Amino acid sequence: MVRLASRMDTLPPYLFAALDERRRAVEARGVEVISLGIGDPDLPAPPVVIETVQREAARAANHRYPRYDGLPAFRAAVAAYYGRRFGVSLDRDREVLTVIGSKEGLAHLLWAYVEAGDVVLAPDPSYPVYDAHTGLAGGEVYPLPLTEERGFLPDLKAIPEDVLRRAKLLFINYPNNPTGAVADRAFLQEAVELCRRHDILLVSDAAYIEMTLEGERAPSVLEIPGAKDVAIEFYSLSKPFNMTGFRLGAAVGNAQAIAALGRIKNNSDSGQWNAVQYAGAAALEQDPEAFFAGMNQVYRARRDKLCLGLRELGWDVPMPKATFYVWAKAPGGDDQAFASRLLEAGVVVVPGSGYGKYGKGYVRVCLTVSEEDIERVLTRLRDLTPSPFAN
Ligand code: MLT
Repeated sequence: MVRLASRMDTLPPYLFAALDERRRAVEARGVEVISLGIGDPDLPAPPVVIETVQREAARAANHRYPRYDGLPAFRAAVAAYYGRRFGVSLDRDREVLTVIGSKEGLAHLLWAYVEAGDVVLAPDPSYPVYDAHTGLAGGEVYPLPLTEERGFLPDLKAIPEDVLRRAKLLFINYPNNPTGAVADRAFLQEAVELCRRHDILLVSDAAYIEMTLEGERAPSVLEIPGAKDVAIEFYSLSKPFNMTGFRLGAAVGNAQAIAALGRIKNNSDSGQWNAVQYAGAAALEQDPEAFFAGMNQVYRARRDKLCLGLRELGWDVPMPKATFYVWAKAPGGDDQAFASRLLEAGVVVVPGSGYGKYGKGYVRVCLTVSEEDIERVLTRLRDLTPSPFAN
């Protein structure tokens, strides 16, 4: 066998790929499994998305390579949407780039900036892609603990000066995966100021920015005056428009970072299919607010059913104000053991240690199943003997 590159030694299997494998093993034993694992919406994309893809799929012009920097119509729709939604003005050609989902964009951005000896400031717990590609690119993650006491906001003032001197990038992600926490403008302002002072690129992963469950809308980091000098934001169509399978997002903000990401991408992929980009443009142009409000209402009802049901069982879970994730302490304290026990009973939840050291002892429970399936989950958990929820 050919020896793998040594960089593979530190690359763990992707959290959700590993979970899928374990789920399939349980299903092979005849257990019917309900997944509250990956954040993959169960409801369809808006009709305008489906109609547009169908129409554009039939046009031969769309069977060819897309433009490297993305379809102008999609980039223009993103720029117009940022203007309407956040009051942020973006130059479609210099400050917006199509990405094949934020995951791709986030991963490739790290290759443009990080090399041996560089530090990347990343929340812990967080989306595993930040850590994985920092490591592959030879950099080192300095974890910023997200704790309940601080409302799952990192303490930026606690980062030592010598770490700030070596830091190239600071990741923030609000509304937050996996904790469901929200950040206010004051926090975003503090992050922008820190990055301006220390010449750090601020990377805002805004995958859940449309998913607030109590009415208040989440701000974009680009709303902060001067943010564009230091910040790039990833807007994703995956979760808010139920489009995870389409793979579509946009990087917006600092023109130098956009150009650098574009150069890495041109050398690694050939862009997203034009039919999908036309569909994304249509989704953003056609009153997305109403669609988001409807989806957030669905998730709010599911959240209430699940959280109240779990509390009745004796599991004291908090109710998230945003995202479709419930982040709760694992009964018994061992997140891996608890998640394994639930999987054996036909329920997938994600062990928090998969998101970093500070995720240990928590599990993430996702709201992407119907209220009927939530009832079935509650029944399965109620039937566990001995009950893991008994004190
Ligand atoms: C999640 O469930 O945290 C992510 O959406 C999964 C992913 O992007 O791979």
